[in-house]
Amino acid sequence: MNRIFSGVQPTGNLHLGNYLGAIRNWVRLQQDYECIYCVVDMHAITVWQDPRELRKSTREVAAAMIAAGIDPRRNTLFIQSQVPGHAQLAWIFNCVARLGWLNRMTQFKEKAGKHRENASAGLYVYPNLMAADILLYKATHVPVGEDQKQHLELARDIAQKFNGDFGVELFPLVEPLIFGEATRVMSLRDGTKKMSKSDASDFSRINLTDDADAIRLKIRRAKTDPDPLPGTVAGLAGRAEADNLVGLYAALADLTRAQVLERFEGAMFSRFKEALAELTIERIGPLNAEMKRLLADPSEVDAVLRAGGERARARAEPVLREVYEVVGFLSP
Ligand code: TYM
Repeated sequence: MNRIFSGVQPTGNLHLGNYLGAIRNWVRLQQDYECIYCVVDMHAITVWQDPRELRKSTREVAAAMIAAGIDPRRNTLFIQSQVPGHAQLAWIFNCVARLGWLNRMTQFKEKAGKHRENASAGLYVYPNLMAADILLYKATHVPVGEDQKQHLELARDIAQKFNGDFGVELFPLVEPLIFGEATRVMSLRDGTKKMSKSDASDFSRINLTDDADAIRLKIRRAKTDPDPLPGTVAGLAGRAEADNLVGLYAALADLTRAQVLERFEGAMFSRFKEALAELTIERIGPLNAEMKRLLADPSEVDAVLRAGGERARARAEPVLREVYEVVGFLSP
């Protein structure tokens, strides 16, 4: 039986990269799989979070997931810190993963930057917690954007070493699910940087909470080159910004890049950007409105998350019990 797990950090606004690279795929997968989706607040605090903002963002991210179409009655939608098993299993994985493996994680290097000595220990062992998130439910498939691929390879290494060390077949080897035309959405200001919540410039990203005017303005200002659009995908080579905008259009319209270029061959960016802005507004608008409705009275979202937490704890419990047995802990 395939089981899906994925998570998103409540660190500010979700953007188009989160939506097209991950959340929209989560919505599609719920047709065919049992899915567990998590707001990972424990991951968020690996870098400083203002407590009040964290609480607000946690609700907002949950509301965005529901507004995007994740059905909380069919899936388990919950907050990471409400299921203690994540921290318990993460500790065990801290003792399984090797320092050498963590030293290879590119995201730690990027996030810690030049001030490594000053990064939190949590940021360093972040991928172990991520492996625990997934394996606490014995999930087999994890839909994510391209940037999480290395972390999922580490989750496989951890599962394999745990199974090998203890001579068991307890944890599955997770498979990443990275699909669609927008697995790596880039910044609107710089086609070599990924679109990110932490970018200082709000013009680098389209937030799911942006209104129509903000979307039009940001797309109009997006960096491009002076040439018209090519007729084929090969013509996008070396044109990172053009490739990104075409990819966004393709993902939003449910087309391939090739189909988009057939339609817009020879068009100047001014025309293409206008079409892209209108399409983005059409797709994001309803989500935005539903999010606002949900957040006007958070009791509905809170109830969903409470029920999801209960369900997740019940799911996690037998797996944790099995782990205790295997590791040699006495049962509680
Ligand atoms: P996070 O919160 O940074 O992002 C959530 C999801 O959005 C995807 N994503 C993108 N996809 C395409 N283009 C982009 N520019 C872009 N930016 C973000 C991410 O790949 C991700 O799928 N470590 C994870 C959260 C996590 C998790 C897990 C994921 C914690 N535990 C267990 C899967 C399984 C993260 O920081 O995602």
